[in-house]
Amino acid sequence: MLTANTKIDNNLIVGKVEPRIFGTLVEQLGRGIYGGLYDPKSSFADEDGFRKDVLKLVKELGITTVRWPGGNFVSGYRWEDGVGPQDLRPRRLDLAWHSTETNKFGLHEMEHWLKKAGNLELMLALNMDTRGLQSALDLLEYANIPGGTKLSDERIANGEKEPFNIRLFCLGNEMDGKWQLGHLDAIEYAKKINRVAAGMRQIEPDLELIGCGSSNHGMKTFGEWEDTLMKYAYDEIDLLSCHAYYHTDPGELDTFLGSAADMDRFISEIVSCIDAAKALAKSKHIVNISFDEWNVWYQGSEPSRVPEGIDNWPVAPHLLEDVYSVTDAVVVGDFLITLLKHADRVKAASIAQLVNVIGPIMAPENAEAYRQTTFYPFAETARLAKNGKVLKEISNIPNLENKKYGTISMVDSVSVQCKDGSLAIFAVNRSIKDSISYQICLPEKENYSNILSAMTLHDKDPLAKNTVNNPNRVVLKNNESIRLNKEANMIAINLPEDSWTVINIK
Ligand code: AHR
Repeated sequence: MLTANTKIDNNLIVGKVEPRIFGTLVEQLGRGIYGGLYDPKSSFADEDGFRKDVLKLVKELGITTVRWPGGNFVSGYRWEDGVGPQDLRPRRLDLAWHSTETNKFGLHEMEHWLKKAGNLELMLALNMDTRGLQSALDLLEYANIPGGTKLSDERIANGEKEPFNIRLFCLGNEMDGKWQLGHLDAIEYAKKINRVAAGMRQIEPDLELIGCGSSNHGMKTFGEWEDTLMKYAYDEIDLLSCHAYYHTDPGELDTFLGSAADMDRFISEIVSCIDAAKALAKSKHIVNISFDEWNVWYQGSEPSRVPEGIDNWPVAPHLLEDVYSVTDAVVVGDFLITLLKHADRVKAASIAQLVNVIGPIMAPENAEAYRQTTFYPFAETARLAKNGKVLKEISNIPNLENKKYGTISMVDSVSVQCKDGSLAIFAVNRSIKDSISYQICLPEKENYSNILSAMTLHDKDPLAKNTVNNPNRVVLKNNESIRLNKEANMIAINLPEDSWTVINIK
């Protein structure tokens, strides 16, 4: 059998795992909100119309931050439409998804839902496309000023005495994308950032602002876009966004399993752009990364847009409802490993999205919500790694030749000193055909004596999925092969081909 070796050094800390790494995007899109989070007519709804079964799974998933209301949707959004008495709110065309937005769910509903989901943080995306400075200032006054002004008093009249105190804002979404309503070129966008950020900070100087990086690693302007933005707006931005989606083509599972290698390079390249700009600007300010859209997404192979037509603007249509395989979940687990390995610079991230729309949770109309395969690596990583410290690993691992991503490591792994003092190791075997024995040399001077858990996500059918009729087809299973050698301070575990594993020891 093949062997991979890793030595974990707990003297070398890569970075703290910010809870914000376990965020999500919830967009006004398809059945993400209407039918997902909010469905007053559902038998699963609580007194506020929120689905209780979904709330329960969101808590189990370990979500921390919610990016809202988009996504592409935000580029045409008027936040005022979503406040005030529900029956007076306007219906509007949503050009991003060719749908009708009823505005029954707006800022107050989102804030209320966030509280119920465990006091989650809002990452509020602003419309920088068809709108800009004035609407951002109005929103800030409405949401964050305690009272005594027109807009803050309107919030109070709308039922919310206490300010929402929103700290984290996205300055638009995918501003370089031609598909984005009102997209801008890099210089126009940098100028807009400077004006909007300066205005917002006249109200609250300590807001955290996220600038849009390239829409994806493959954009023609990737690098140049970041360069321009950093050159003209470096000091206004606290975090620069990255977005990345991956999928497999038929018969290409082995290639797909290497997707996180691309995410890894993407992050390193963005860090280089940021730091080059910092050096040139002679700035002390540090810009970090918000990887605020990432996931597997089978773009184009599912209804991803309503067929166009002047009279065809449905409300909450079935869109982007990808059903994930066990291999998709292995790749998602690898994305999380990659984000953790960059814990020194990735300070926020959002799996896109949460419910029904390319989400780890499915909420069928007439059945209880269930966990997609991708739910498991996310929930376990969030449970163990949140607020932990990523430790340095020195590894000797066989390589794979990947058709798309070149030479990549067969095993990808990361170790985290957990908040409770235990050690968590997350590992992926990226080979589609070979299992591997993973030998881990544990940190010195620690006497690990107890395996708390060792679980693997794997299935002999790499395309096995959870469905409404068989929601537990794919679950995490104990990995019985694990051996702890206390004298040698080592563990050995078998990682089956195409698998994601989590080990927790104390
Ligand atoms: O998550 C789906 C879409 O992907 C988002 O609306 C957009 O930001 C990205 O292109």
